[in-house]
Amino acid sequence: MVTPAELIRSRGLNVTLYNLPASIELVEVAPRDGFQSIVEPLPTSSKIDVIEALIAAGLKRIEIGSFVSPKAIPQMADTGELVRYFKDRPDVRFSALVPNLRGANMALEAGIKELVYVISVSLTHNMKNVRQTHEQSLAGLAEIAEQVRQSTLSGRPTMRLDLGTCFDCPFDGLIKCSEVANLLSRSLELMEGIDVEIALCDTTGRASPAQVGQYFAQLTRQFTSENITWAFHGHDTYGMGVANAMFAIQNGATAIDAAAAGLGGCPFAPGATGNTATEDLLYAFNGGGIETGVDLMKLLAAADLIAALPGGQTASHMRSVPRSRIAA
Ligand code: COA
Ligand code: ZN
Repeated sequence: MVTPAELIRSRGLNVTLYNLPASIELVEVAPRDGFQSIVEPLPTSSKIDVIEALIAAGLKRIEIGSFVSPKAIPQMADTGELVRYFKDRPDVRFSALVPNLRGANMALEAGIKELVYVISVSLTHNMKNVRQTHEQSLAGLAEIAEQVRQSTLSGRPTMRLDLGTCFDCPFDGLIKCSEVANLLSRSLELMEGIDVEIALCDTTGRASPAQVGQYFAQLTRQFTSENITWAFHGHDTYGMGVANAMFAIQNGATAIDAAAAGLGGCPFAPGATGNTATEDLLYAFNGGGIETGVDLMKLLAAADLIAALPGGQTASHMRSVPRSRIAA
C-alpha cells in the first residue's frame, strides 16, 4: 500500500500550503446511521460481517449502534449484542448513540466507553427526532454527564455531542452560527470535566464548504479547552460531502464521520441521503497526504459487502470507478 505521504511526494504536491493536518480520524458510522436507514432490520450476523470487514480495512473508530427505544428504531435493537461480540478489540474505539440516561446505562453496562448524545440546534428537528424541547434535551445531557463523571469503569468514559442540523434544518432552513454557539455553550457547561468531542452535523447535506469552514473557524476559536476536540458529520445529499469535510479539517476538525458505500438516509430528515462515503473521503485524504490508517482497497471490499445488503440505499463515487483506476 502506498502511504498518503508517498503519494503526494510522487505527485510533487506541497500540502503545507493548504493548512491540512498530517492525520485525521475517520469515524465509521454505517453500523448506526447507515443500518438504521434500512427498513427491514438486518440479521445481527450480517452486521458482524460488515463490522469485521471495516476493522480489517483499518478503521479504528466505529459508531456501532444506538441504545434507543426499539419502537422508535427497531433496526438498533441488537446493539447490546454487537457491543458484547466486539468487546475484545482494544485497538478499536466503539461508540454508541444514547438518547437518555436509560440508554447511557445500557451502553455502559454493555462495555461502551464513548457515549454519543444528540441535540438538534433546530428545535423543530429536535422535537421530531427525540420528541424533546431543548430544555428537556439539556436536562438529559446533564444526567448522562453526571453518570459519566461517577463512572467507576477503568478509564473514564468519554462523551461525544452530536449537534444536529448545525447548518440547515429540513423544516426551518438556514441555521445561524450564533444559534449553534448558544446551544453549545449551554451543553459544555453541563459536561465540565469530561473529555468531549463536539460534532457539528450537516444533517441534510445542504451546507456548503464555505459555511462549514466558517462555522468551524468561529466555534473552535470561541470554545477552546483542552477537553474539547471537534468532528464533522456530513451527509452527501448535495454532493458537497467531501469538500465540506476538507474545509472542516482545515478549520479545526480532527475527526470526520463517514459511512462506507455512502449507506444511509435519516428517517427524521426528509430527502437526506447517506453520510459521505468513507471511500470518497479516503481518496481525498490520501491525495492530500493525510494519514488515516485505512486501506482503500480493503475499504472498498467492505463497501461492496454493505452495498449487497438487501434494502440499503448507497451513494459512492469510488465504487463506480473501475478498481484498476483506483489502485495507486
Ligand atoms: N432504550 C430502550 N427503550 C427505551 C429507551 C432506551 N434508551 N428509552 C425509552 N425507551 C422505551 C420506553 O420504555 C417506552 O417503552 P414502552 O412504550 O414499552 O413503555 C418507549 O421507549 C417510549 O419511551 P418514552 O420515555 O415515553 O419516550 P418517547 O416515546 O418520547 O421517545 C426516545 C423518546 C428519545 C426514547 C425515542 O424517540 C428514541 O429512542 N428515539 C431515537 C432517536 C434516534 O436515534 N434518532 C436517530 C439519530 S439522529
Ligand atoms: Zn447523520
